[in-house]
Amino acid sequence: MSDQAFFAIHSSLPREGPGDRSTISWAMAFARPPADGRILDAGCGPGADIPWLVKYVPRGRVVAVDSHAPYAHQARARFRGDPRVKVIHGDMLQQSGPFNLVWAAGSLYAPGVERALPVLRRMLVPAGRIVFSDLCWTGPERPPEAVEFFSRTYPAMGDEMTLRSRVARAGMRFHVCTELSASAWEAYYAPLEKRLELLRRDVPGDPDLARQIETHEREIELWREYGDCFGYLLCVAAR
Ligand SMILES: C[S@@+](CC[C@H](N)C(=O)[O-])C[C@H]1O[C@@H](n2cnc3c(N)ncnc32)[C@H](O)[C@@H]1O
Repeated sequence: MSDQAFFAIHSSLPREGPGDRSTISWAMAFARPPADGRILDAGCGPGADIPWLVKYVPRGRVVAVDSHAPYAHQARARFRGDPRVKVIHGDMLQQSGPFNLVWAAGSLYAPGVERALPVLRRMLVPAGRIVFSDLCWTGPERPPEAVEFFSRTYPAMGDEMTLRSRVARAGMRFHVCTELSASAWEAYYAPLEKRLELLRRDVPGDPDLARQIETHEREIELWREYGDCFGYLLCVAAR
C-alpha cells in the first residue's frame, strides 16, 4: 500500500489519534509540570493537543515535533507568533532536553515503545515524567477478527502488563494508567469517517486508496464491535 493513499486519508484531520481535553487534564493531575516548565509534544501530528498543553506551562514552552513534514507545517502555521510554542519537523528521538514532561499521544508505536522510552527518558529533568498512550488489549477476551487485524497493523500490541514491563526495562517507574474514554476515540474517528466518505468518490481507478479506505473502515468497525476488548491506555511514567 502506498504512503500516498494513506496520507490522502490522513490529511486535514484535526487530530491523528484518539484523545481530548479530558485526557490531558487527567494526566496533568499526576504529571504536574511547573508553570515555567518545558513540555515535548512527541509526534504532535497536526497539533491538536498543543493549545491544552500550553495552559499547563503558561510561563514555559511546548516544543512540538513531528517527522511528517505536512503535520509539522500545519502545527507551525497554527501557532506562528505564539512564543510559548516551537514546532520542529524532525525525529522525536533526536531532541535535546531537558524537558519536565514528554507528552506522546499515540505516537510511540512508530519508533516502538520499547525503543523510544529509554531515549526519551534521557531528555527528562530528574523529576520529569513521560505520559504516553498506546493501543492495548484491555480484557481477557481476544476476538479472532481483532487479533487478525492488529497482528497485521500493530504486531507489538500488548496489554497493561506489557506496558508496565516496557516502562521498567526503560529504567522508569510506572506511576499510573487509565483507559481513554469513548469520546476521546470519537474525537478522532468522527472526522476520519467524514474524510473516508468524501474520499470514496475518488476510489474508482485508485486501488491503493480503495484498500486503505477499507482498512480504516474495518478498524472503526472493530472498535465499535469489540471496543471493550482493546483500547488506548494512557500511562504516566516517572524518570
Ligand atoms: C497516531 S499519530 C498521533 C498524533 C498526535 N499526537 C495526535 O494525537 O493527534 C502519531 C504521530 O507520530 C508521528 N511520528 C511517528 N514517528 C515519529 C518520530 N520518530 N518522530 C516524530 N514524530 C513521529 C507521526 O508522523 C504521527 O503524526
